[in-house]
Amino acid sequence: MFYFSLPVVTCYSLLNYFVFSGRFMKLIFLEEVDSTNEYLKRVEFCHGLCVVAEKQTGGKGRRGKKWISEKGKGLYVSFMFSPISYQIASLSSLAFGVAVLNVLKTLDKRFYLKWPNDIYINGKKISGILPELLSDRLIIGIGINLNYTRDELSSLEVPATSLFAEKIPFDKHSILDKLILEVENYYELLKKKAFNVKEFEKNCPLIGKEVSVIEEHKQFNGIALGIDTNGCLVVEVEGKIRRLFSGNVSIRL
Ligand code: BTN
Repeated sequence: MFYFSLPVVTCYSLLNYFVFSGRFMKLIFLEEVDSTNEYLKRVEFCHGLCVVAEKQTGGKGRRGKKWISEKGKGLYVSFMFSPISYQIASLSSLAFGVAVLNVLKTLDKRFYLKWPNDIYINGKKISGILPELLSDRLIIGIGINLNYTRDELSSLEVPATSLFAEKIPFDKHSILDKLILEVENYYELLKKKAFNVKEFEKNCPLIGKEVSVIEEHKQFNGIALGIDTNGCLVVEVEGKIRRLFSGNVSIRL
């Protein structure tokens, strides 16, 4: 069923244009914005609102980092939903990571997940997710590198790539269409407490491997055993079990 919401049309006068895609999704396209996540913090609450920008002047990554957001070079999109409990929200990086992975896997089967919320191919990051839970809304920001050249990504802290650099053909609008459906689906699963972390685990090559962990500037090694129901990475370190809420984890070579 398609949903036409008049208040969306009248409230968001800054829109260049709008279309409707998916069930109850309202979509806004902007030529330029500071950050699509920040935009969704400023506007009136609207469950299912999705904003896409051609360019971000202040694209945000996790842990206060910047997200490269040049015009036409990436997909920069954020979704607004009714808030969910803090406990469920702790799984949102994983659930929406699977949502993005499902979309990218329609283009190439080699994409995989890196705990807690990155999508990789060939050892390089191609997409990241920034969930933000506010008292009255959940915002899910997703960035996918589309047209960047290797040179344009070479100065980034984390090795990164794009669909263009990997020579994977794509259609931006088709990616967005599929993303909307997947994100909506995984939001519903989260809300119903029906998201199974096994979906993440089976697409995360870290699991079962010897890993190196950097957590709060400390480095240690261990074996990644799996992901628990709270979304923590379970690592065996010198015979003891440690549960990580966050951290930089890589396979030990
Ligand atoms: C990360 O891996 O660090 C998360 C990156 C999230 C980037 C997206 S792009 C759309 C949305 N708007 C932002 O400012 N950030 C997210």
